[in-house]
Amino acid sequence: MVGRVEAPNSKENGWTKLVIEDRDPIGSVDSRLFGSFVEHLGRCVYTGIYEPGHPSADGDGYRTDVMELVKELGVTTIRYPGGNFVSGYRWRDGIGNQSQRPRRLDLAWHSTETNEFGLHEMAKWLDKLGGNELMEAVNLGTQGPQEALDLLEYANIPSGTALSEQRRANGSDAPFDIRMWCLGNEMDGPWQLGHRTAQEYARIAAITAAGMRQIDPDIELAVCGSSSHSMPTFGSWERTVLEETYENINFISAHAYYQPVCNDMASFLASGTDMDGFIKDVGSIIDATKAQLKSSHDVFISFDEWNIWYQDAEQSQTPKGIGNWPVAPHLLEDIYTAADAVAFGDLLVTLLRNVDRVHAASLAQLVNVIAPIMTVPGGGAWRQTTFYPFSQAAHLSKGGTVVRSLLTGTGHQTDKYGVVDDINAVPVLCADGSLAVFAVNRSLDRSNRLTLDIGPTGSYKTVGMTTLHEEDYTLANTVEAPDQVLPRKNGQVEFLPDRNMVVAELAPVSWNVIHVG
Ligand code: AHR
Repeated sequence: MVGRVEAPNSKENGWTKLVIEDRDPIGSVDSRLFGSFVEHLGRCVYTGIYEPGHPSADGDGYRTDVMELVKELGVTTIRYPGGNFVSGYRWRDGIGNQSQRPRRLDLAWHSTETNEFGLHEMAKWLDKLGGNELMEAVNLGTQGPQEALDLLEYANIPSGTALSEQRRANGSDAPFDIRMWCLGNEMDGPWQLGHRTAQEYARIAAITAAGMRQIDPDIELAVCGSSSHSMPTFGSWERTVLEETYENINFISAHAYYQPVCNDMASFLASGTDMDGFIKDVGSIIDATKAQLKSSHDVFISFDEWNIWYQDAEQSQTPKGIGNWPVAPHLLEDIYTAADAVAFGDLLVTLLRNVDRVHAASLAQLVNVIAPIMTVPGGGAWRQTTFYPFSQAAHLSKGGTVVRSLLTGTGHQTDKYGVVDDINAVPVLCADGSLAVFAVNRSLDRSNRLTLDIGPTGSYKTVGMTTLHEEDYTLANTVEAPDQVLPRKNGQVEFLPDRNMVVAELAPVSWNVIHVG
């Protein structure tokens, strides 16, 4: 952002110019950027993706109405099975005869885990979806390296060992061939079962990584970074963990959730500012570690939990008590507004602008739990407002390249981030040669005239725009009214080929997709 003209108190329309710089790429969009996350939490698995007996369930109990929505969403990789859940999970509970699997206490979410659904069921579901990639997390909370090594042997060794033969006997002749593994979850968080200091975690992660690589040298490993940018240990945690594990890992994770604090909508809509700073800070620590170790190896960021989450409202709903361990309770079932979809879009734009650093990301989570897809047990499934920015960006960006751009324009004041640009935008050169620009107007009250300088227009002939915007930005989709908030075709866009320009009017609090083809 350069040369911002500040007009914070003006009611006049804002303006923004986005100059696309000679198609110079920031990086290609890794398909893993559009991953999501399925945790054994609330109704994400049970009555979410899996509900035997549901009218839409197939012979394996998978809800086909949900599968159709997952495909439409455009999700790629699925991180599984947690989350906080994984830090107390015994993976062996979830294999073998379903009727004989143990019921266990899930301490993370104060629930009962029936283990009806486990690794085989997840792998089969992904196959049915069309071969989506599984990103498996291992328990480094209550378990350690041996259980992780056993799980890797069970999953990836073709045959001829006790564990690989057990997998085959359990119905999966071919190995699952899982490429990407998370070494624990949020181990920096005091709430995490098995929470450790950075040094303690770094040693266990290093030992586990080295052993896993001995079994399968080509797997990709992600160590835990910080659970949020604001963790008191942020920075020193990353440095310690990277120093100890650097050569044996491929990713360090980052997690971030945003919500309006004290109804400060202006800051909330600019949440990408914090996420961008988080990515830049972790990137600097990766670079410093690489230099210090004189390494030629590269480590990237796996932003493997991100979303809007009304965490403050949730805490009071968590069931407690020695006798209260429900199966698949209603937890974290946030309903998202139009404003939430715009803040969410701001995060998506931020992830795309950082594709040189972020090679994997997981929207947390996929169904029912802070999710773009909601279900009614025994009933229908519907799309939340956040479904749309994700699916539009996923479908248009896959196989594409993020090109460099220079943004100039009006800004406004926020309590948390000072003056921010009214518009946050990113151009993506799509796989088919067309150009998509994802643009968020973060201003609460000002429209903004966005001028795209797209350079030599080549074969471009047409432009189209869709906008997600509601006069009342608190409007949400619900089971009764599932299609209230949608991106709609917006004619307020013009292609000026003589001047290599596209001009669009962006409403306040809006998510926009401009597509030049
Ligand atoms: O996604 C919900 C929870 O948020 C995950 O279980 C945990 O990793 C994070 O704190």
